Amino acid sequence: MKFFVDTADIKEIRDLAATGMLDGVTTNPTLIAKSGRDFFDVLKEICAVVPGPISAEVTATDAPGMIAEGEKLVKIAKNITIKVPLTWEGLKACKHFTSNGTMVNVTLCFSAAQALLAAKAGATFISPFVGRLDDIGQDGMQLISDIVTMYRQYDYFKTEVLVASIRNPVHITDAAMMGAHVATIPPSVLRQLVQHPLTDKGLEVFLSDWKKTGQKIA
Ligand code: G3P
Repeated sequence: MKFFVDTADIKEIRDLAATGMLDGVTTNPTLIAKSGRDFFDVLKEICAVVPGPISAEVTATDAPGMIAEGEKLVKIAKNITIKVPLTWEGLKACKHFTSNGTMVNVTLCFSAAQALLAAKAGATFISPFVGRLDDIGQDGMQLISDIVTMYRQYDYFKTEVLVASIRNPVHITDAAMMGAHVATIPPSVLRQLVQHPLTDKGLEVFLSDWKKTGQKIA
């Protein structure tokens, strides 16, 4: 399973990239606003730190506008992935870009029917938002299971399921068990993945017993 980090905070990205666990980055207008930085500057920096796909979202709502914006965005770096919303206009723009070999992430997916359309539009990634479905009392992970099952029926669907709006480590392990290709993870949740109280407790005991031996490895 590939791990993307869902942030536009370059400090966090650098820090997490150093773990060797980052395969890509996703941003959205909310995350760019939160960074307080210039869209193009921040994306340029992110693309230089992480060699994998870096999602940059368009803000136009019509296909020609999305295409014009996307064409500017792809000039930033080779690893830019154009992010478009799951609307008819977004799907048209998706088809345009993927036909020309540009990666596209279709975002704001909340149903299996929408995911089917994205695959037919040749999307590189489909982003179903699990947390936001859970927030309204629906089952976000059931949607992931449905999309993975649906895509598996057709060899010619190359779209990868990118689980988005992740709120906790269980979303990630459940998605991995379902065979989702990618999880885009907020930095705090990515850090949570390594934590277990028994690991901390076990290490503490090992270190104190080692100290008693008076030995050194190096
Ligand atoms: O990047 C899209 C998605 O991951 C947003 O998550 O937490 O705003 O629902 P959230």
